[in-house]
Amino acid sequence: MNQRKLEVTYQPFERTTRVPPGTTLFSAAHWIGLPIDSTCGGRGTCGKCKVRVLQGATEVTTADHRQLRKDEVDSGWRLSCQARIYEDITCEVPQLLRVPKAATMGLSRLVIIDPNVRKVFLELAEPDLHDQRSDIARLRDALSAEGHEMSAGVAVLRTLPKVLRESSFKITAVLAGDHLVAVEAGDTTEECFGVAFDVGTTTLVGTLMNLRTGMAAAVRSTLNGQAPYGADVISRISHAMNGQEAIDDLKTAVVSTMNGILTELYREAGITPERTYEAVVVGNVTMLHLLLGIDPTPISVMPFTPAFMDALSVPASEVGLRIHPAGYVQTLPALGAYVGADIVSGVLATGIAREDKVRVFVDVGTNGEIVIGSSQRTLATAAPAGPAFEGSQIKCGMRATDGAIEGVQLGDTVELQVIGGDVPPQGLCGSGLVDAVAQLLNVGLLNHSGRMLSAAEAPDHPLASRLMEVDGVRAFLLAEGVYLSQRDVRELQFAKGSIATGIKVLMDILGVDPSDLDEIFLGGSFGSYLNPESAKIIGLVPPVDVDKIIAVGNSAGEGAKIALLSYRERQVAFELPARIEYIELSGRTDFNDAFVSVLGFPNLELVG
Ligand code: FES
Repeated sequence: MNQRKLEVTYQPFERTTRVPPGTTLFSAAHWIGLPIDSTCGGRGTCGKCKVRVLQGATEVTTADHRQLRKDEVDSGWRLSCQARIYEDITCEVPQLLRVPKAATMGLSRLVIIDPNVRKVFLELAEPDLHDQRSDIARLRDALSAEGHEMSAGVAVLRTLPKVLRESSFKITAVLAGDHLVAVEAGDTTEECFGVAFDVGTTTLVGTLMNLRTGMAAAVRSTLNGQAPYGADVISRISHAMNGQEAIDDLKTAVVSTMNGILTELYREAGITPERTYEAVVVGNVTMLHLLLGIDPTPISVMPFTPAFMDALSVPASEVGLRIHPAGYVQTLPALGAYVGADIVSGVLATGIAREDKVRVFVDVGTNGEIVIGSSQRTLATAAPAGPAFEGSQIKCGMRATDGAIEGVQLGDTVELQVIGGDVPPQGLCGSGLVDAVAQLLNVGLLNHSGRMLSAAEAPDHPLASRLMEVDGVRAFLLAEGVYLSQRDVRELQFAKGSIATGIKVLMDILGVDPSDLDEIFLGGSFGSYLNPESAKIIGLVPPVDVDKIIAVGNSAGEGAKIALLSYRERQVAFELPARIEYIELSGRTDFNDAFVSVLGFPNLELVG
């Protein structure tokens, strides 16, 4: 994967980027924020994306011959969407997209609204004895004149004669890529929707997007219906080991959950499934296997090889998803068996790997997925953290629901933040655990090796009366019946140690120090709730100014929305696996050495 990068320069902007061989000039320009003009979605049919190659060369393609004059081809003009880069190139861009319509997404990213789903209103010439073209030929010719190529399946053909005649040949063609999804009577161009799904092991989030305006029309989340088969990925895979019937059970469970979300989304937005033409779905590798009814069991055993990691486009009817019956489900690619499309989506949303800033993205959960780098070089890995961050294997641990302590502040007294407001605290969820440990370190009741002081060792401390022993183990009382034990601290040390080690190994390979880091993004359903200061105090993330540590919310869902709204950004996601190197941590000796070195808590006075 670590292939030689090639340099491309765009004039008159004087912008240069380095890309893997085979990238198109069109796509490379988009990576650095130069949206070359296009109306065909990079399919070589609109002719708007032409550039002139000034230095270096690209092959002449058949699309060039179709769209460009011979003298243009001879003087170096090429369709940038077809021109693949195999040597260093300088080219001139005559036209960027003029005043592109854009939407602000996620981390204030401006995304050009240029979806894969396009609606084209056409007034077709009515047939007569002098023009006996078939209905589909009539439609194809009209679309082609507007720069769109298309292929049509039999389902659309079945509807065609009636729709054309009933609407006096004034119709709207709906294209997803170059598939003709539907032909609708009259002008329906204003009603164009898609749905972005983040399929988490625990929670699913669906966002219905208006593809005309770029706005979310409705959002819903609910628990994954696969929960009865186990709480985590490994127990779902264990169930799948019972054979195809079990895999089908898991598929049905997740598809029903998605369809339930869709029903609510349609109701809230007041639209029908027939106006929703595409779903972009992200999730970890196991979730996407199960969604498609594919056996995920090899993911759980050495050498951890999934059936697929590519971006797939699958007819919605084959998945059973209730959008337009001829619509499509698009998945994003994965980087490794344990760094899935949800992480690729997060990388897309956060802009890592395409800007000069050196950034760390960590999705904290049972697995810590880590991506570090910049446009120069980016690495990814997964570090097994165990269930501590989810509140499991913690004496008073619980999920982040009502009654869970999610924030802790220690001084002369104990202040707790409890989910659900006025409910009495019942346990500690992951963010509360991290806060509690960080605060105990701050007030000196935990030392840097992770050892908790006893009441006898800190007799004058204002919180000494809360130091106790439960079943012979030291503990700190947070609230009635809720305490943090010495063992819990050790569990957290192992969990954070694993992720911190993953980060350290990647930083060492890249040759960067904490002082080189511009930003650290905490993502995922748990990471987003972490207090950045506490994450730093316990050494989960490298010691940087706390304002460089940013919780990025549901970055996976955000990336799916971006890929739905912009086919250019979708292309970026497709190319990320070729741009990001996956590092396997198992069996690396530097992982074991680094793990031991980061098990304790950092002395931030020494490191800054
Ligand atoms: S021909 Fe349309 S984008 Fe290249």
